[in-house]
Amino acid sequence: MNYERYKKPVKGGLLRKLTTESKRIIRMRLSELTNLRILDVGIGTAPYGELLLKNGNKLTGADQNPHLCRLPVKVYKVDATDLTGKGRFDVVIATWLSEYLSSQQLSVFLQQAAKISNRVILTIIPKTFLGWLYTFSARMIRGVCKYNHSVKWSINQMQKVGFGNITVKRLPVVWGISWAYLLTGNK
Ligand SMILES: C[S@@+](CC[C@H](N)C(=O)[O-])C[C@H]1O[C@@H](n2cnc3c(N)ncnc32)[C@H](O)[C@@H]1O
Repeated sequence: MNYERYKKPVKGGLLRKLTTESKRIIRMRLSELTNLRILDVGIGTAPYGELLLKNGNKLTGADQNPHLCRLPVKVYKVDATDLTGKGRFDVVIATWLSEYLSSQQLSVFLQQAAKISNRVILTIIPKTFLGWLYTFSARMIRGVCKYNHSVKWSINQMQKVGFGNITVKRLPVVWGISWAYLLTGNK
């Protein structure tokens, strides 16, 4: 799979608008994290890295493609379904990762996150029309296999592995419809 495209800024009208507004909401949420040990799984180019570091957090990454990260932080080359032996963290974050994971893989990722931290923050692209359109286009245009996960199912999986007090934030609403959600779970 070609992940090099993540190094380039997102082009295009609607997609850019969607991601810009989503990023603003995610930034707001992540700016609440201060002086914590954070593991960013699927860190990619580390778009939130500067913000997290500025707020005194100790940031570590985990990614199948660690070379994408443009910040001088430790990035483990691992699969999201195997985070063992990487230490303990206050928070595990995973923005725009879950669409690369099948239900079974996402479920294992959440189990792993629960083993090594007390909080998880992740985005999901649900099984709504816009969410489905996004994954369908990825498959048709880029030949990339992406997955949708329902909010209810994701919450259920988070609860199963011990996360409670779950909050759900809609990521930008276009024509009254959300295309993605930001979920937070705490132990
Ligand atoms: C869409 S990018 C997200 C980057 C960043 N988190 C963000 O918010 O923009 C997805 C990242 O997940 C990584 N990735 C995809 N599948 C993975 C897996 N199974 N395990 C670990 N990393 C994975 C890719 O290498 C890529 O860097």
